[in-house]
Amino acid sequence: FYGSVVNPLTLTSYASLPRCLLCVGPTGNIEWVVDDVEPHDLQNVLAQKGQIDAELFELKHGEFLMPGFVDTHTHAPQVANIGTGQQYELLDWLANVTFPMESRFADVDFAKRMYTKVVRDFVNNGTTTCCYYASLHLESSKALADIVHKAGQRGFIGKCNMNHDSPAYYIEDSVETSISATKSLIAHIKSLPPSSSAHASQGTAQPLVQPILTPRFAISCTSELLSALGELASSDKSSNSANPNPILIQTHIAENLSEIEYTKQLFPGAPNYASVYDQHGLLRQGTILAHGVHLNEEEVALIKQRGAGISHCPTSNFNLRSGVAPVGHYLDKGVKVGLGTDVSGGFCNSILIEIRHASIASKVLQFSSPTPSGPQPSGFANKQLSIPTLLYLATLGGASLCLLDSHIGSFAPGKAFDALLVSPSRRTLGLWGTGEQPKDVDLPTKKAQLDEWLERFLFCGDDRNIERVYVQGVLVGGQSTTA
Ligand code: GUN
Ligand code: FE
Repeated sequence: FYGSVVNPLTLTSYASLPRCLLCVGPTGNIEWVVDDVEPHDLQNVLAQKGQIDAELFELKHGEFLMPGFVDTHTHAPQVANIGTGQQYELLDWLANVTFPMESRFADVDFAKRMYTKVVRDFVNNGTTTCCYYASLHLESSKALADIVHKAGQRGFIGKCNMNHDSPAYYIEDSVETSISATKSLIAHIKSLPPSSSAHASQGTAQPLVQPILTPRFAISCTSELLSALGELASSDKSSNSANPNPILIQTHIAENLSEIEYTKQLFPGAPNYASVYDQHGLLRQGTILAHGVHLNEEEVALIKQRGAGISHCPTSNFNLRSGVAPVGHYLDKGVKVGLGTDVSGGFCNSILIEIRHASIASKVLQFSSPTPSGPQPSGFANKQLSIPTLLYLATLGGASLCLLDSHIGSFAPGKAFDALLVSPSRRTLGLWGTGEQPKDVDLPTKKAQLDEWLERFLFCGDDRNIERVYVQGVLVGGQSTTA
């Protein structure tokens, strides 16, 4: 690929590279990146790299490549409810809107029809890696894994574990049923073949689709079920030399004040919500905790110590009136943070919307906290999140929650080419794509121009601006693939 590339680097920086040459090898991994190649030097550089016969894809003016988005928290069956039930807070919303819809996924044919559309939409919105909750049903959860696999998306699929305080029509009848279905799903996912020819040639590399343990939240699991899941988490043998990571775990935490109060009543032996998971062996590296709106300082310290991460779901947190998660503070404490759409608590399946709401949430905290006198404190707390930070959360931050930050989330030799080709061609935003900007400007100005294109895309773009979506070097979606 030759053209403009945006590459996240750290929480506070990204590289904008207007004339970048990036080489993807046959396994779908990036082989090398050269970051400032003049058009007249292109053939020389290719010759030096021994790639004179390489298939060259030249980006057009206004187009750029960036890493694909990582959605660290969403519910596939709830897409069927998207945009409804906005009048409720969490517990009433679960009872009145969510559980009735999820229970319909007992019907595997219905699940297959829905999930095929759901996964296609996530991919076309630029989500190259997605952490999915399915419903509690084994067969339709397997179907979701099959569909994600067929779509070529990178994904973690979990069957909800819930044997407590759920309606009679949507509950598991015992710890044994819940654990045996979970084990069956794990076995099914591990038996899936490599996803495509390019993926197949990866040989021993990590599979794209992996299982994730999914205790829905403390309220919907008995202590016995949480313990059994903790044992499963520690006994899982999925790690090997190609995939050194333990099986991931996803759940909800401290989303809503009534939820926290009820959790305390159910688990009186735990000093706080995070300790409930910790006491059952479920708080560790590779645990993804959704929301974390109302965590106290002990919980933040415990989460940091255990190496778990927080999925920030600002659309849902506004929509269900849960509150504003102080993610700047969590970042200051060194806790890992990614973004999650949390459909249908959140009303959109695009990480772009989470970027916007994460920005607004941080501005709300900024204008509602007392203005410090004297010099501005350093750090992220109570300040608007910058563009580099938002970009990081949507890519590398999410990847770190999934223990995949050495593999995806940015462009570097040896990393997978999970990428978006962003373009103004089907939807011009402001001056981006109008041809009103000079095409041949000096490098510093070209960088500034690319920064501006990125900002316009993050704040005003949508799936119409996502021309191509690649996972592990394979084109899996985007406008160019739709009729
Ligand atoms: N807590 C338990 N289940 C859910 C869910 O489906 N969505 C959200 N937002 N919170 C939950
Ligand atoms: Fe959720």
